[in-house]
Amino acid sequence: MTRIEKMPKRFCWLRAATLTGLAATVAAVATLMTALAATAPDAPNSVTFTRDVAPIFQKACQTCHHPGTAAPMSLLTFQDVRPWARSIKARVMAREMPPWHLDKSVGIREFKNDISLSDADINTIVRWVDGGTPQGDPKDMPPPLTFRPETDWFIGKPDLTITFDKEMTMYANGPDWWINKYADTGLTEDRWVKAMQIKPSNARIVHHAVTSVIPPAGTDLTDSGFVGGEFEEYAVGKYGTTFPENTGRLLPAGSRIQFDMHYFAIGEEAKDRTTLGIVFYPKGYVPKYKITMVNFRNLPNDDLEIPPNSIVRHDGYFRLPRPARIVSFQPHMHMRGKGMTLEAINLDNSVTTISSTDHFDFNWHIAYVYRDDVAPLLPAGTVLHAIGVHDNTSANRRNPDPSMWAGYGERSVDDMLQLRLAVVYLDDAEYQAQVAERKTKVTQLLTGGNQR
Ligand code: HEC
Repeated sequence: MTRIEKMPKRFCWLRAATLTGLAATVAAVATLMTALAATAPDAPNSVTFTRDVAPIFQKACQTCHHPGTAAPMSLLTFQDVRPWARSIKARVMAREMPPWHLDKSVGIREFKNDISLSDADINTIVRWVDGGTPQGDPKDMPPPLTFRPETDWFIGKPDLTITFDKEMTMYANGPDWWINKYADTGLTEDRWVKAMQIKPSNARIVHHAVTSVIPPAGTDLTDSGFVGGEFEEYAVGKYGTTFPENTGRLLPAGSRIQFDMHYFAIGEEAKDRTTLGIVFYPKGYVPKYKITMVNFRNLPNDDLEIPPNSIVRHDGYFRLPRPARIVSFQPHMHMRGKGMTLEAINLDNSVTTISSTDHFDFNWHIAYVYRDDVAPLLPAGTVLHAIGVHDNTSANRRNPDPSMWAGYGERSVDDMLQLRLAVVYLDDAEYQAQVAERKTKVTQLLTGGNQR
């Protein structure tokens, strides 16, 4: 017996079936079966909102789904949640909500910002909906959470705020609106960034805001760690980035900021002026670990060939010029994007799958941030390989038109294949030291030095 009629979609066309991946999938399914078996004997009615479901929503949904945010509804109380039960079941089973689009069965599993649900949590929600959404005993309801106002600076008071020249006016009804705005930083010297946050003045209409740095032409960026321009990104539920101690990003003197805005209509005309706030390290301070953005694309020259009614794959490669620790992984595609996998082609020609998104969603710009102790640590010469898949069939519900040929372009109806990695380059000594530290930890685990 299984109450899960539809398992989360999975890809089989890549290296998903590497031995580790396969083993993990088997293990995950086994866990799910155990969970089902353990709860199967009595009726599904045993799952109640107040006791079983509300704690999951507090943990995984309410940061975004509370009044005053851009999420379409609040999920605080039974009354809020009840009308959305069917839709919630569908979204959590498809692993579209909470937004986390990784294939959890391959590659690295530990992330600092993982907001995904466990199989057991999904199972609880599904059984609650199938059991007729009983409220349960009000006394079981956990105390309500409180939320910091969206208007706060979560990174502390910024040293510099940058915003575009005027308020934008979004129409009451109509399609989403993508627009690029620009603003000067006014910086007269190079500064190292400790933290950054983007804050819309009207979070209800801002679907996302992505900022990029445009250094003045001719700036010598050798050894600055500055390669790509992407900076901070905003989407509902995201309240800035603070780098670990001794880690930072360069903002070169004279830079301009590009705001790539995505607005949506809410039934009444509304205005917004989005601001980027930055906390700097003290003047003259240079952090030991410099974050570099590596943004590599498919070859050659971004050319994409996405014929009508087809599912196609393209590849991109980047050879690490120096030893590196990869901090985060972020695929970038548009509406026909289906999935992207990152693998390392090692010096001995073996291949390791690092991460894979198997149900990419263009609506969400998610950088998956590896936990420090498992972040990929790779020697110079390793070739990073991005495999991107576009789905130009009608099975892709975001596809604007499966009968159209699509290629590379800036418009969201065109497409892209980019892999954005935050990387810290290391010198040889530092690389050896970090590898040695990992080895010691693994040995301790294997020899039972760390029993848990
Ligand atoms: C990071 C913020 C965030 C988190 C966390 C989150 N959501 Fe959402 N959710 C949104 C936004 C924004 C939308 C609307 C845009 C979209 O559908 O992508 C949405 C849409 C939905 C929808 C579709 C509503 C409709 O219009 O049909 C459902 C259902 C939903 N979320 C349920 C949940 C549940 C249940 C959880 C927790 C298990 C959750 N969400 C966690 C931000 C979030």
